[in-house]
Amino acid sequence: MLLIFILLVIVIFIVIVFFAFPQFSPIPYFPSNGKDMGLIVDALELKNDQTVIDLGAGDGAVVFAAAGDAYKRKLKTQFIAIDINPVLILIMYIKWFFHPNRRNIKIIRGNIFSIDVKKLITPYPPLAAIYLYISPWYLEMVIKNLKFQIKNFSVISYMYPIKSLKKMEKIIKGLKHNIFRYNVINV
Ligand SMILES: C[S@@+](CC[C@H](N)C(=O)[O-])C[C@H]1O[C@@H](n2cnc3c(N)ncnc32)[C@H](O)[C@@H]1O
Repeated sequence: MLLIFILLVIVIFIVIVFFAFPQFSPIPYFPSNGKDMGLIVDALELKNDQTVIDLGAGDGAVVFAAAGDAYKRKLKTQFIAIDINPVLILIMYIKWFFHPNRRNIKIIRGNIFSIDVKKLITPYPPLAAIYLYISPWYLEMVIKNLKFQIKNFSVISYMYPIKSLKKMEKIIKGLKHNIFRYNVINV
């Protein structure tokens, strides 16, 4: 009994450490609002041979909802969920195990500011939709890194517009928050 209690305290301590300290997760975990999920999935404009990447995927709410939609529509879309927090990675693996479209879902523990996105996108020509729900001051950093790595991609940003992409902005009014879609073409 005492052993179980000690183990429980250790687990709770680890979870608190990973959620409370910015060095483990500089952007706090907030899932995209479930009331906007249908609109978010529509905004991804799922298609065959497309790779959808959630940079800072949290518990995978968006990736699993979108992968479920692709599965129903028999689309061969690939999904990649990237997060830095090992507790959320573990939660995603549990969800992945029970998901009907798991063979098209990849979970990666990585840093969204340094990950090599180009390597993850297959096949050619690369067709990528990047989902972001991160603090506005980090959005620009991620976009800069993406533009450096891939030529053409779409960005779907929940709640926060991306100032540097204003010219390409399409706004989808959500029930809770707006969804901003951008088709980025680098020439
Ligand atoms: C606001 S939550 C969004 C979760 C998910 N995308 C959603 O919409 O439901 C931001 C996520 O980014 C993750 N995160 C923070 N800094 C990160 C980093 N440097 N690399 C990867 N993920 C990071 C956090 O762990 C958190 O899960």
